[in-house]
Amino acid sequence: MKEQLEAMRRTAEEQIKNFNLRSELEAFRVSFLGKKGELTAILKQMGKLSAEERPAMGQLANEVRAYIENQLTEKSEELKKKELRDRLQKEKLDVTMPGERRELGHKHPLSIVLDEVKDIFFGMGFDVATGPEIEWDYYNFEALNIPKGHPARDTQDTFYITENMLLRTQTSPVQMRVMEKQKPPIRIIAPGRVYRSDAVDATHSPLFHQIEGLVIDEGITMGDLKGNLETFAKRLYGEETKIRLRPHHFPFTEPSCEIDVSCFRCGGKGCPMCKGEGWVEILGAGMVHPKVLQNGGIDPEKYSGYAFGIGLERIVMFRFEIDDMRLLYENDLRFLSQF
Ligand code: DAH
Repeated sequence: MKEQLEAMRRTAEEQIKNFNLRSELEAFRVSFLGKKGELTAILKQMGKLSAEERPAMGQLANEVRAYIENQLTEKSEELKKKELRDRLQKEKLDVTMPGERRELGHKHPLSIVLDEVKDIFFGMGFDVATGPEIEWDYYNFEALNIPKGHPARDTQDTFYITENMLLRTQTSPVQMRVMEKQKPPIRIIAPGRVYRSDAVDATHSPLFHQIEGLVIDEGITMGDLKGNLETFAKRLYGEETKIRLRPHHFPFTEPSCEIDVSCFRCGGKGCPMCKGEGWVEILGAGMVHPKVLQNGGIDPEKYSGYAFGIGLERIVMFRFEIDDMRLLYENDLRFLSQF
């Protein structure tokens, strides 16, 4: 019986060493140590032993059982660790692997400059106002001192929806809409799309953008106009920028002017960018015509104001040295990704 037990210990040791799965260990435990297992079978023969032999044999049997159980636990721990290792190996996530890159877009050059312009005017206390792109003839022309038959209409031919409704040719009608709703002080810019029946070329498009400006309060003078727009030009093109006011005519302002900025490329000496002029025109402006104030329900005896209209495409093209306006609308990524 002693030999049997010793042999059993050796076989068990041998087998346990070679197991690779925890399920195998469990099956082995049942067949060796279970109620119908081999060890139990041996113990059942204890009755045949003499009273002297029995205690020593009982102790040995217990030792063998403890030994095998110990082996099983150790092996089981070892296999558990191995299983975890294998699983981690299989599920390995390589965080250094290149990910799937999502192309992020960015602002269109028109939006880049428009946002800058807005920031500059916000800094000077302006709000943003808006108006419809489909506009009444009244707001687009009539109220702005451009009656039917006025020659200024010829240069702003547009797309008519009915005789009295059209696609606005300028952002100036927003002036009138603001005056009707708001009492002075007024200090707004109104950026937006405008339309003209022009053929497409390097400097024309039937759709383009303007930024209107309107300031009305008591005691506003041409000095305010010049000072504010000079500040604007310096912020946009750099502190060394100079401005120049040239007399001009707009039906809704009196007096009117066009404003040029010194060419930021050559500093005013003359270069291909400014076509040798040293100056580039960026906006039209003037003191709001008393009749226009009246049309907007504002007393011209008490209040005065100035207005201006900036061509967004113009200042964008100047700023980024773009020589063909069509590039701004064609959405060619080779062009757009440069900004
Ligand atoms: N609306 C004019 C245009 O499209 C631009 C303009 C000039 C707007 C003078 C103004 C202004 O507000 O005062 O040609």
